[in-house]
Amino acid sequence: MIFVASDLDPSREHQHAPGPSLWPVGFAVGVVVLLVGFVVSWAIVAIGAFIAVFFAFLWLRELTRGSHLAEKPEKPEPEKRQSPAAVPREKREHQEVERYPRNVFLEASTLGVGAVIGGLVTLPVLGFMVGPAFLKQGVRHTDLGPIDAYPEGEYLVTTFVSSAEGDVSRRTAFIRNNGFLGNQPSFTIISNHCAHLGCPVQPNGAIQFKQVSTFPGVTRLPVNPSGFGCPCHGGQYDTEGNRIAGPPVRALDRYSFSIVNGHLMVGKPFSVAYVVGTGAGAKIHATTYSYPGEHVSGLESWLYPIQPPH
Ligand code: FES
Repeated sequence: MIFVASDLDPSREHQHAPGPSLWPVGFAVGVVVLLVGFVVSWAIVAIGAFIAVFFAFLWLRELTRGSHLAEKPEKPEPEKRQSPAAVPREKREHQEVERYPRNVFLEASTLGVGAVIGGLVTLPVLGFMVGPAFLKQGVRHTDLGPIDAYPEGEYLVTTFVSSAEGDVSRRTAFIRNNGFLGNQPSFTIISNHCAHLGCPVQPNGAIQFKQVSTFPGVTRLPVNPSGFGCPCHGGQYDTEGNRIAGPPVRALDRYSFSIVNGHLMVGKPFSVAYVVGTGAGAKIHATTYSYPGEHVSGLESWLYPIQPPH
């Protein structure tokens, strides 16, 4: 092994080999916090992203400065100026290393190749896993028949096909015609999905099976319930869908609706924290459609993990 005088000069050695850095560790911690945030809350995602970007910036700056220092040409001493051919081969190689140290090049290229491979492997998988949940799905408006088929003030247990998949997409809702609000027809359309774990809620009252009425894809059965109850864990709701007992965390979900050519069209579902009042004059505290068991109001809603939109 051949040593040259400069190898033994400590003031030059620290330029060639940057000391250990905490920036990569900080960057990794930021990425971990960011990923955990996707499970916990958007606030944690923001904190993780900030930590990752901050340490990535410091890391890159350190790398850039290391290269910059290494690229600085040393002032040749006048007496040592020689033609390249006259310089011994070992010394020529050493000077090349000084211009662009091998450790900096290897570090940068390893990081670059690692990042490219990591991105190529991770991004498509993440895209296929997470992407569809965040894409807006088209909302189908189902025709539930003429509004005259819904007697004012009465609930009808209504089942309907909600998508082109046919009977497998059949849903159940409790529909009540509230009369008019101003000059607009008003309907209450309550989903039968329990707000605890999604079991099928039943009306607390006798269903009049013999008075069934139908429309293509739709069946309606009159009922006069005192409320709604869930057979799974005993959740109870009043006639507006408010939770009054048991483990459900909010009121029953509802469906939006529209009136087209005198027909009732059911739209997309939404969740409800609670309802004040009844019928057409009820004040509905609505939120975006949420999963069963998910709090939509109060402190608990802030602590609930992020859910992909429906
Ligand atoms: S699923 Fe309805 S009370 Fe549990």
